[in-house]
Amino acid sequence: MAKDPVRVLVTGAAGQIGYALLPMIARGIMLGPEQPVILHMLDIPPAADALNGVKMELVDAAFPLLKGVVATTDAAEACAGVNIAVMVGGFPRKEGMERKDVMSKNVSIYKFQASALESNAAPNCKVLVVANPANTNALILKEFAPSISEKNITCMTRLDHNRALGQISERLNCPVSDVKNVIIWGNHSSTQYPDVSHATVKTSSGEKPVSDLVKDNEWLKGEFIKTVQQRGAAIIKARKLSSALSAASSACDHIRNWVLGTPENTWVSMGVYSNGSYEIPAGLMYSFPVTSRNGEWTIVQGLAIDEFSRKKMDLTAEELKEEKALAYSCLS
Ligand code: NAD
Ligand code: LMR
Repeated sequence: MAKDPVRVLVTGAAGQIGYALLPMIARGIMLGPEQPVILHMLDIPPAADALNGVKMELVDAAFPLLKGVVATTDAAEACAGVNIAVMVGGFPRKEGMERKDVMSKNVSIYKFQASALESNAAPNCKVLVVANPANTNALILKEFAPSISEKNITCMTRLDHNRALGQISERLNCPVSDVKNVIIWGNHSSTQYPDVSHATVKTSSGEKPVSDLVKDNEWLKGEFIKTVQQRGAAIIKARKLSSALSAASSACDHIRNWVLGTPENTWVSMGVYSNGSYEIPAGLMYSFPVTSRNGEWTIVQGLAIDEFSRKKMDLTAEELKEEKALAYSCLS
């Protein structure tokens, strides 16, 4: 029997991530090749014509899984009955703007959209925040959508996770699909800690630790970390635009593994509401290694943390504490 369609909201749908993400969802890359979808697209009034153009293209592409498209600048209409919400819309930092001004704009956007989701989304709606500052936007959304379970509000560090897999694969000249269990700890920012202490690579003689194969701790603790931390900025420098296809693909990976599960003995990185695991202060939206079963993620427990990792994990937690304080100061 055909499955009922899942309603997927994409905010900022007329932007460049939206343009890459919407066809991926409509092709089944996010929820699988058997799952029909109805796309809900939200943008702001100045982008209404562009949004309508994207809607026309979605119709023209005749995606077999696409059962409907809602394109609107009204948040309540966009959120009506959605099962999954991918929050890509936000206020970008512009030249000469202070950090606090950008934060203040995004706090008010995420406060408003939290209420729209709270009042209109389907029960058990799963939320992924992509727009920067992603962790703190997600925290504000959680604060102002109290009836949405905190387990259902996440932010995206999967792009950083995938970047780390990509760097190891390039260094070892092995397929990226053979590398697993890297971890992104903390903030989706340059303080994030990409950690390969527990990562492995599939070889003809079984799975081997990344560190045994790379055999260069100086690179793993230096250039590798820096490259992943700075990759977003490097893309902006090269493209004069921020990453879009890799961000869209990673958003699909995030939701697919959350909803359909992570492979056996494999974890992924997700920004989730900290419960104090690994001595990260509870109440921060922090990226952890997680597995997922039956649509519910769990933080991987019991990983050994050495002194080098501890310092880096705490440093990015400190930045998140500061961002949280700044965001809350914008509310008063
Ligand atoms: P973009 O400027 O091309 O598109 C953003 C869209 O959001 C625009 O169409 C804009 O009109 C819309 N928008 C603005 N305010 C809105 C609101 N209140 N409601 C709905 N829509 C609104 O930007 P992009 O390249 O698509 O990037 C989107 C966001 O994703 C940025 O914040 C970017 O920094 C972030 N990003 C995050 C990651 C990550 O890994 N977490 C990776 C790449 C980009
Ligand atoms: C990225 O990691 O590519 C983006 O978050 C960069 C940005 O500032 O949009």
